[in-house]
Amino acid sequence: MTVTTPVIPEAGEGIAPTGQSLEHEYLYARQEASRQTGPLGNPLRAGMPFDRVPDACTMVIFGVTGDLTARKLMPALYDLAVDHPLPEGFSVVGVSHRDWSDDDFRAVMKEAVTKSARTQVTEESWAMFARGLRYVQGDFKDPGLYVTLGERLTAIDEERRTGGNRLFYLATSPSYFTPIIANLGGSGVAKRQDIFSDPNENWHRVVIEKPFGRDITSARGLIQEMAAVFSERQIYRIDHYLGKETVQNVLAFRFANILFEPVFNRSYVDHVQITAAEAIGVEGRGGYYEEAGALRDMVQSHILQLLTVVAMEPPANFDGNAVRDEKVKVLRSVKPPTGDEVSVKTVRGQYVGGSSGGRHVGSYRTERGVEAESATETFAALKLEIDNWRWADVPFYLRTGKRLPRRVTEIAIEFKKVPHLMFQNMAGTDVTDVAPNVLTMRIQPDEGIALRFAAKVPGPTTRLRTVRMDFFYGASFGEAGPDAYERLLLDAMLGDPTLFARRDEVETAWSLVQPILDGWDDGATPTVPYESGSWGPREADDLIERDGRRWRRP
Ligand SMILES: NC(=O)c1ccc[n+]([C@@H]2O[C@H](COP(=O)([O-])OP(=O)(O)OC[C@H]3O[C@@H](n4cnc5c(N)ncnc54)[C@H](OP(=O)(O)O)[C@@H]3O)[C@@H](O)[C@H]2O)c1
Repeated sequence: MTVTTPVIPEAGEGIAPTGQSLEHEYLYARQEASRQTGPLGNPLRAGMPFDRVPDACTMVIFGVTGDLTARKLMPALYDLAVDHPLPEGFSVVGVSHRDWSDDDFRAVMKEAVTKSARTQVTEESWAMFARGLRYVQGDFKDPGLYVTLGERLTAIDEERRTGGNRLFYLATSPSYFTPIIANLGGSGVAKRQDIFSDPNENWHRVVIEKPFGRDITSARGLIQEMAAVFSERQIYRIDHYLGKETVQNVLAFRFANILFEPVFNRSYVDHVQITAAEAIGVEGRGGYYEEAGALRDMVQSHILQLLTVVAMEPPANFDGNAVRDEKVKVLRSVKPPTGDEVSVKTVRGQYVGGSSGGRHVGSYRTERGVEAESATETFAALKLEIDNWRWADVPFYLRTGKRLPRRVTEIAIEFKKVPHLMFQNMAGTDVTDVAPNVLTMRIQPDEGIALRFAAKVPGPTTRLRTVRMDFFYGASFGEAGPDAYERLLLDAMLGDPTLFARRDEVETAWSLVQPILDGWDDGATPTVPYESGSWGPREADDLIERDGRRWRRP
C-alpha cells in the first residue's frame, strides 16, 4: 500500500477555506503526516497513535529567564509543538524580574530553542510557536505581579481560546515556592480543585521541580504549604528521571515480558548495583551544591526512583495511583541504616584534584561558591536492604558521584551462581572465565539493555567464556526517544500523574535519607577525599568488598 503524506499547509493566522483556523489546519496536517510516516519522518516510529493531545491551555513558567527554561523547558515545548503536536492556541506566559518585552522574550527563547531542541527550528514553525509566547515582568514576592498575571491570562483565554486551563510551572529556586504558591492562591489566579469539583470546569495544575525540601521537616512543611492552595491531584512533582524512556522501559521490560520477572527475586538475584556517575564537577553551581550534596541531590530523588522501578511489585495497571502505590510500598520496605550502621553502610566522598577528560582539574574546595573547609559530599555510596518477601537478604548497592571517570547511569542485576557447574571436572575445561549472569539496564548514555552469560568457545575442548547480548535503543528504534521533559510536560497537561512523585512517596524517600543525614551530622562518617577521574574513595570499595562483592566498572 502506498502512503501519501498529507501536504502541510502554511501555518499562518486567519481562517482556512474549510472554516477552521489556519493554525488548526496546520496542526491537523502535521498530526496526519506524523501518524503515517512516524514523527519527524522516522519510519521506525510510524503508526504510533497521536491520541494524546491535551486541551487548549496556557502554561505559566515562573523563572523563565533561568537555566532550566532555556536548556530544558522551552526546547521540550517547542519539540512537542512540532513533533507531537500541542493543542491549537497553546500559549506560554513567562514570568521573571528582568525588564523584557514579549519580543525580547521570544528572541531569547528562539536562541535557546535553536541551541537545545531536538527538532530543527524553521522560520515557519517558530513563527507558529512564538505567537503563543508572552512575558510578564515582576517580583515573585510582589502581590501586584499576580494581578497583572491574572489580567494577562484572561486576555489570552479570550484571544487564543485557551479555555481558562492553566499549568503553573515553578522553575525557580525552592525558596520562592512558598511565596509563589501563596500568591497564586491569594490572588485567585489559581483555583483549588479536588474530587468534588466539576469535572467539566477548566483545570489548574502546578508543577514543582525537585528538590522537594532539604530534609524531612522542610519537605513536610512544603507539602502542607502547597496543600493549603492546591489539592494533591493538582500537584505534579517532577523528577525528570521518571520521564526518561529508559526508566519507563525498566517497567516495560519487567512487566511486559514473561522471561525475566520470575527471576527478579531473592531466589535468583545475588545483589543489585545502581550507579549514577558524572564526569563533570559542580560546573559553577558550587553555591547550590554546598546546600545539597550528593545524597540530597541524587540519592533522595533519582536513585531512589531507579530503586523503586527495579524493585516494586507489578501494579495492576499503568495508572497514576496503581503505579505510585507500588512505589511507595517498596520504599516503605527499605530498611535505612540507623545509628552505628550509618558509618558501616554509607560512604561520603569529596573530589580532590586529578585528571578528568585528559586535563588536570582542581578540587571541589577550590570551586566558586564552595567553603574552603567544606565537608559537602560529591560522592555517596550506600548499602540498602529491602525487607520484604521478594528482596529479603538481597543487598542493593547504590553510588553516585561527580568527577568520576565517565558519565553513566545504570542498574545492574547480578544473579547467583549456578548451583552446580557440571563442566568443572571435565578434562581440558577452563571454567575460571565464567562469571554469574548480569542484566544491565543502561539508563544513559548508550541507552539499552545487556545480558551477560556463559557460552562455549568454539573448538574441540569445552571452554566457557562470558559473552554479552546487547540491545541498543538507537539500533531498534532509530533514536533514543524524546527528552524526559517532553513526556512529563505533556503528561502534566493531560492530567496524568503516573510519572510524578506523590506526597507520600516524597515523605517516604526523605524518611529513608534522614537517618543517614542525621548520622553524618553527628560526625560518624567523615567525608573522605577521592581523586578526580577515579571511581570514588577506597572506602566505597571496602563497603562492597566486605560482602565479597565488587563494584562494576561500567
Ligand atoms: N537547571 C537545571 O538543569 C535544573 C535541573 C533540575 C532541577 N532544577 C531546579 O529547577 C529550578 C530552577 O532552576 P534554574 O537553574 O533554572 O534556576 P535559575 O537559573 O536560578 O532561574 C531562576 C530565575 O528566576 C528569576 N528570579 C529570581 N528571583 C526572582 C524574583 N524574586 N522575582 C522574579 N524572578 C526572579 C531569575 O532571574 P535573574 O537571573 O534575572 O535573577 C532566574 O532567571 C530550581 O528549583 C532547580 O533546583 C534545575
